[in-house]
Parts: sequence; structure tokens; C-alpha cells
Amino acid sequence: LNYNVKRDRRFILEILFNGLRRLEYRGYDSAGISIDSSSSSDPNGQLSFSPLVFRQEGNIDSLVKSVYKDVASIKLNLEELFCVHAGIAHTRWATHGEPSPKNSHPQTSGAGNEFLVVHNGVITNYEVLKETLTRHGFNFESDTDTEVIPKLAKYVFDKATEEGDQSVTFSLVVLEVMRHLEGAYALIFKSHHYPNELIACKRGSPLLLGVKELSEDLHSGAPFLDLKFISENRHPKELFLSSDASAIIEHTKKVLVIEDGEVVHLKDGGVSILKFENEKGICGNALSRPSSVQRALSFLEMEVEQINKGKYEHYMQKEIHEQPESLTTTMRGRLKRGGSTKAKTVLLGGLKDHIKSIRRSRRIVFIGCGTSYNAALAARPIIEELSGVPVTMEIASDLVDRQGPIYREDTAVFVSQSGETADTLLALEYALENGALCVGITNTVGSAIARNTHCGIHLNAGCEIGVASTKAYTSQIVVMAMLALAIGDDAISSQARREAIIDGLFDLPNKVREVLKLDQEMKELAKLLIAEQSLLVFGRGYNFATALEGALKVKEVSLMHSEGMLAGEMKHGPLALVDENLPIIVIATRDACFSKQQSVIQQLHARKGRLIVVCSKGDAAAVCPGGSSSCRVIEVPQVEDCLQPVVNIIPLQLLAYHLTVLRGYNVDQPRNLAKSVTTQ
Ligand code: G6P
Repeated sequence: LNYNVKRDRRFILEILFNGLRRLEYRGYDSAGISIDSSSSSDPNGQLSFSPLVFRQEGNIDSLVKSVYKDVASIKLNLEELFCVHAGIAHTRWATHGEPSPKNSHPQTSGAGNEFLVVHNGVITNYEVLKETLTRHGFNFESDTDTEVIPKLAKYVFDKATEEGDQSVTFSLVVLEVMRHLEGAYALIFKSHHYPNELIACKRGSPLLLGVKELSEDLHSGAPFLDLKFISENRHPKELFLSSDASAIIEHTKKVLVIEDGEVVHLKDGGVSILKFENEKGICGNALSRPSSVQRALSFLEMEVEQINKGKYEHYMQKEIHEQPESLTTTMRGRLKRGGSTKAKTVLLGGLKDHIKSIRRSRRIVFIGCGTSYNAALAARPIIEELSGVPVTMEIASDLVDRQGPIYREDTAVFVSQSGETADTLLALEYALENGALCVGITNTVGSAIARNTHCGIHLNAGCEIGVASTKAYTSQIVVMAMLALAIGDDAISSQARREAIIDGLFDLPNKVREVLKLDQEMKELAKLLIAEQSLLVFGRGYNFATALEGALKVKEVSLMHSEGMLAGEMKHGPLALVDENLPIIVIATRDACFSKQQSVIQQLHARKGRLIVVCSKGDAAAVCPGGSSSCRVIEVPQVEDCLQPVVNIIPLQLLAYHLTVLRGYNVDQPRNLAKSVTTQ
């Protein structure tokens, strides 16, 4: 949105398309856009606008093509305008209704596009709302939950104007709509009745406002800008609303993280923010005026280069290869070695006031989903060892389903790359209600988990865009190893062990650099496995998590069935699957479980299993029964046992990557998956 600057509509379209491309990793089954149609003069000589909507199944490029086809056929006029422009766009990951143009966003109130809405989240009471609105004569076209929102807005607007309130503002309409919505949402509204205005609001789902001042002399370089100043001055500016910083960063780093219940109104180049309070509104008694909010903008610590592919072909490839750097930034400033006391210690600023309480807790419960859960599983043994506190593991959705016991004496650690996963957030709400001390481990500053936990640690791994998590996983393990060191910091008996781990952490980026040299070897292995139906991965101890995570990577991107299994359970069922065709990966690097893994390999070999063994450098003969011809060996550098999962996962990440590319699938946008699952 742009005040007082001459631009044509192509400029607005391109900003929106680029923003969608940045967000495509969040959802990519269909997309849509709305900007205002060509201006025409009304009888009073005023320009009038009406929103045009384009929606398309498939990726952003299909949408772009369809919009420019209409430009070519002159349905869309690109002429220059000297005024404010407001456009909205959306890329979708289907929750209700299959991917199709009618189910894409913006969803509309009906003919004339009186109200249009883009939505991230899920409306849980949409069926009741749909029934009521249908009774009031609304016809529904889509299978989405979102469609009730623009229709509700039209209902509210019509009712207010019928009752003679011609001055009902856009924000009052939206505040009334919010009163009826249940579930999680971040919404942006556009309306024929309020040309060149936008309203955004949120509850549960993330939303950011970005501000770009176009006048050089204004606060150049100032990290903080008063929102009041933004609202009142009328200098040229562009304002951005997005559920993700990556869509904004190329325009501005000045942002405001919108909070639950806030309503952002963009009008005439200014911004006002109102706080939603649950009083009766237009449809009931008179709405008391909502209070307005004043906050300072903050500064995004993110660079555009982080969200570009650079020299790589895919984001997943880039993120695998940048792990030496991402691990370095994760540890930066947090490890201390030497100094006057010569002590080796860990400093976790976000936990410093809570570390004693964590140490004293009756239990530590790790809670997460997908890869984040696996990372916590990899860290569990070292936390138990150094803290002496029992550690239990919870998949977030399962904890909520069972309403499993969480006590005041527990420390609940929420692990989430995005910090926005709906299941993890629900589990957090539940743990807070039960009085546990809640710790967040996320990669996203300002995310819901970072904001709503009592304390926490940021991964600082840099923006992760590939849907399959790679660098966040290794940074999560390192952060949790540092957590173990910090909790166990008071025990003299484990000092030598802690110091060895700290030395290991310092050296870890080098070891990761070394293991990345296996790239070509893993590509060769991928060529051999390209046509397989299935793959098993066995691990135990620290590397049970490696087995689960390696199999998850292969399954989610290469679409090959693969299962990670606890090697100790092999004899209790999985052994029945073993024959000379099924490829089996065994993780058998040196640690306390090594000899047990050697016998697992023997037993698989005895059943003619097709073995691929990940072992420590120089151990090929020790792990291959009857010599290295009986199995394929992947040798990795040996590190401290608790850090070995960081090294061991890398060949499996590379394998998953190459398998996917060779099998011809989209590695950054795997079928049916989304990076950040903000719905239950
Ligand atoms: C989705 C993603 C996974 C991710 C999981 C948890 O399923 O596809 O890659 O591991 O969510 O996400 P979080 O952001 O909470 O770590």
C-alpha cells in the first residue's frame, strides 16, 4: 500500500506475487490475489474502485500466468494512479476442501466482492455460522471454513446500514465479525465499501506489519519508530501485512508483531491498531469504542540472502550444506572456554533466571511434533545423564488428546522450529494451565511459542525454508546439549564429561564440514535405491532419534516408504520383514551401544539382509560381517557420543535429498506437506 507515489498496478501485482513466492513453502496447492480494478469516474467526477479477484489451482506461477492473461485481454487495466493502492494475496495449504479455484483465497461475500478475506488458520465453528448465514439467504460456493468470514462481514455491514448507521467503519465491521469466530486465524479483509483500506486481525496464527518509509530523510537507520508517528504522518510509505517475515524482509526490516485480539486498520497511508474486547456489538447492543494501541516497531534480524538459494538448486540442499555455519551461529556467545578461571561453561541468557527451577523440577517433559520431537529424543539421554532429572517425551497432539498429567513441579520444554505449530501451541496452553514451568526452543524470534513460554532459547539457525527440516534439527540438538550442560553445571562429578562435550561442540562445525564431503557418495547410494519401495533404518541410544529422523526425511521428500526403528525392538517383529531385497540402514557409530549394534548387524546378515551401515571412520571391518563386500559402509567422523546424532543425520539428509531429485519430485515442496502446520 502506497501513499502519494505514482505507481502502476503492475507494481502492486509484482509485490504481491513476490511475497507469495516467499511464502510458497508454507502452502502451495492453490493461490489467489485481489487488487482494485481500473478506475472510472462516477457522476461527481470521483474515481471509483472495485476489487478484482483471481484464483488459481497450483503454484504461484499458474496464478501469475492467469492474471497477466487478463491483463493482455484488457480486463485488467495497468494504468498509473496517484493515490493509495491496497491488494491482498494468499497461497494455500488445504484444510477444508480440495485445492481448486473456488476453494482458494481470497474468499468472497458474493457477487460484487463486497468483502474479501484471506485467512491463515482454521475456523472451528464455521458449520454453525454457515447454517445461520444460509438461513439469512447467503449462498455458499466453496467447501472452505473461510467463506463464512466475508459473508459474515457483509451481513454485519448490511445490518448496520439498514439500521441507519451509514458511518460504520471497516474496523467496527471486522471487530463484530471477530466476536463470532472460534478457532485460530490471521485474517486480512478488503472491501468494495472501503476502497484502499485494509483490515488485518489475528487470534492464534502469526501476523506481522512491516513499514517502509519512502522518504529518505525520515528516521533513516533508526531501529525503532513510534507507531503513532506512522499513523499521523502522511509521508509516502509502503505497508505490508504477512504471516511470515520472509515475505516482508526484502522491503523493510521495521516490523510490528501483531498480538492476539488486535485489529490493524490501514487507511490513507496511516495505521491504527485497535484492541478487540468481547463486548456486545452492532448485532447486539451498541459497541463501546475499542481502545487504540500504541507500540514501538521492532527491527528484524534477518538478511535477504538468507531467504535466497544462492549457488544451490534447492533450499533443502542449501540448508543441508550451510550446517557448519548455522551450528556456529547457534553456539555463538554461548560457550566459554579459558579466561581467568580456565573454566569451560555454557551461558544461556534466556534461561539464566530459571535454571535453578529447572534443576529442581520433578521431571522434564519434552513436547514437539515431527522433526522437533526427534531432536528432543536425540538430546534426552544427555539431559538425563547430566541433570539426573527424569525426562519424558510427548508428541504434542498425543499429550493434548490424552490430557496427560502435567504438574506444577514439571518443566515442560516446547521444541518447535517455527514456534507456531498449532498442536505444540495447544500443548503449551495446557501445560500453562497446569502450572508447569514452560521453556521454548524455537528458531523464530517473536513466534507464539517464544512469546508465551516463561523463558527459552532461540536456535539462531537462520531462516529455514525447505519444508523438510535439516539445519534446524541439528541446531535443536546442539541447543538441548547446551541446556543439559547448563542444568548440570553444579555437579563436580561430571565436570570432565561436561568439558569434553564443550570441546566437542567447539569442533562440531568442522566435523560437519567433513561429513558433508559424503555428498557424492550419498548420490551414488541414492541411484542404487531409486526404485525401491521401502527402506528400514535401525538405531539405538543416542541414535534411535537418527533412525526416526533419517526415515522421516526419506519418506517426506522422496515419497519412498521408510521406517525408523529402535534396534532393540528388531527381534520383536521387524525381523520378519528382512530378506535379500529390502534395504536396511543400521546406525553403528562408536558409543556405549556399539557392541549391541554389531550383533544386530550379525543377525540381519544371517537373514541375508541388504545392509547399509553408518559407522565411525576406520570401523568398516568391525561392522561388516565377513568383510566389507557383505554390506555398504558410510564412514563418518567420530565425535562425543551425545553430539554424534548431529553428524550421523547428515548422510541421511543427503540421501533423502538426492533420492528426491533423482525420483523427480519437488524437494522443497513435498506433496501434501506444509512447513508450518498452524492448524490442528
Ligand atoms: C511439520 C513440518 C515438519 C516439522 C513439524 C514441526 O510437520 O512439515 O518438518 O518438523 O511440522 O514443526 P515445528 O515448526 O513445530 O518444528
